[in-house]
Amino acid sequence: MPEHLSTKPPTIACIGCGAIAERYYLPALARHPSVLEKLILVDRDDARARAMADQFNVKRWVPDYHAALDEIDAAIVALPTNLHHPVSMDLLTRGVHVLCEKPLAESADKAREMVEAAGKAGVVLAANYQQRLFASFIKVKQLLDDGTLGKPRAITYRVGEVFAWPTVSGFYFNAQTSARGILRDRGAHVLDIICWWLGGKPTLIVSQNDSFGGSEAVACVQFEHDGCTGEVKLSWLSKFPCWYEVACERGAVEGDVYDYRSILLQTGSGRQRRLALPTREKLYTDIAYRIVGNFVRAVAGQEAPIVPGADVLNSIEFTDECYAAATRFDLPWYDIPEVQHGR
Ligand SMILES: NC(=O)c1ccc[n+]([C@@H]2O[C@H](COP(=O)([O-])OP(=O)(O)OC[C@H]3O[C@@H](n4cnc5c(N)ncnc54)[C@H](O)[C@@H]3O)[C@@H](O)[C@H]2O)c1
Repeated sequence: MPEHLSTKPPTIACIGCGAIAERYYLPALARHPSVLEKLILVDRDDARARAMADQFNVKRWVPDYHAALDEIDAAIVALPTNLHHPVSMDLLTRGVHVLCEKPLAESADKAREMVEAAGKAGVVLAANYQQRLFASFIKVKQLLDDGTLGKPRAITYRVGEVFAWPTVSGFYFNAQTSARGILRDRGAHVLDIICWWLGGKPTLIVSQNDSFGGSEAVACVQFEHDGCTGEVKLSWLSKFPCWYEVACERGAVEGDVYDYRSILLQTGSGRQRRLALPTREKLYTDIAYRIVGNFVRAVAGQEAPIVPGADVLNSIEFTDECYAAATRFDLPWYDIPEVQHGR
């Protein structure tokens, strides 16, 4: 059922008409007809912007957001990650509200600047860390916060999926534009959820990846926070169950990362049961619909953003620390020839 937008619709620019715009934002914006009516698409690739405008019945598109600055109240920044900071800073300092894609920025310093600029200008900076809306993850957060399971003792989080995202620009693997690899990209959600569950930034113990200086496809991070240890394993090269588990003093909770409508709960008795979770969001695009509706109402001052930019600083800082401390996995199949050749 459409959400009520009891506000004059803002003029929004969707900056970047790539894969996330097509699969997430535009279907969501199409369910807010009064917002869609005034929407301006922005993409330097004119053919792409035109195709998205045709597909979603958007009346206007421009190749450069500067051409729309006089008209827009707000913008969705759905650009390659290296552009989040410069474009958002330009918008925020001009008093334009921003909903920025994840990761908010390539470093915590840049993300902090964005948060400060929004504060100074008195505008909204929201971040699309949409997994915070997963009913499963919200339930885990509640169970940890209300003490039902006691204190968390160990967190395990695994994501193994061969990279198949239909990127339009291919920026993820472009050394000029990439903001590193899987940890900054897929890990943005994972580390954000972990910081959110724990209520703070963990202390890094070990960070390893398969990078030879550029983007990494496999990463492993171990951490500790207030008596709880944790391990995250991420891979773009192999497929393994995308699974999380939080073991606590008096029970445990686990689940498939993408089954956001149920969890497996084990309480003191040791018996594990599946808990179905009531949620309005049945599809991924329902989550986008809520994020966009929330942004529109936040711009109108009617709601706080679900994930304000400031809320993701911990996880971005932790990601920076993981990269700064990272060592390469032992990769003997590469190292042995070097030894043999006396290098
Ligand atoms: N929240 C999530 O789960 C999620 C999922 C996928 C992608 N993302 C994020 O969304 C952002 C975009 O990713 P994508 O996969 O849609 O990328 P993409 O490669 O599919 O599309 C990027 C688009 O930006 C356009 N572009 C590049 N530079 C531009 C410029 N200077 N001005 C105007 N347009 C420009 C390109 O022409 C392209 O159409 C990334 O930051 C990514 O991390 C988030």
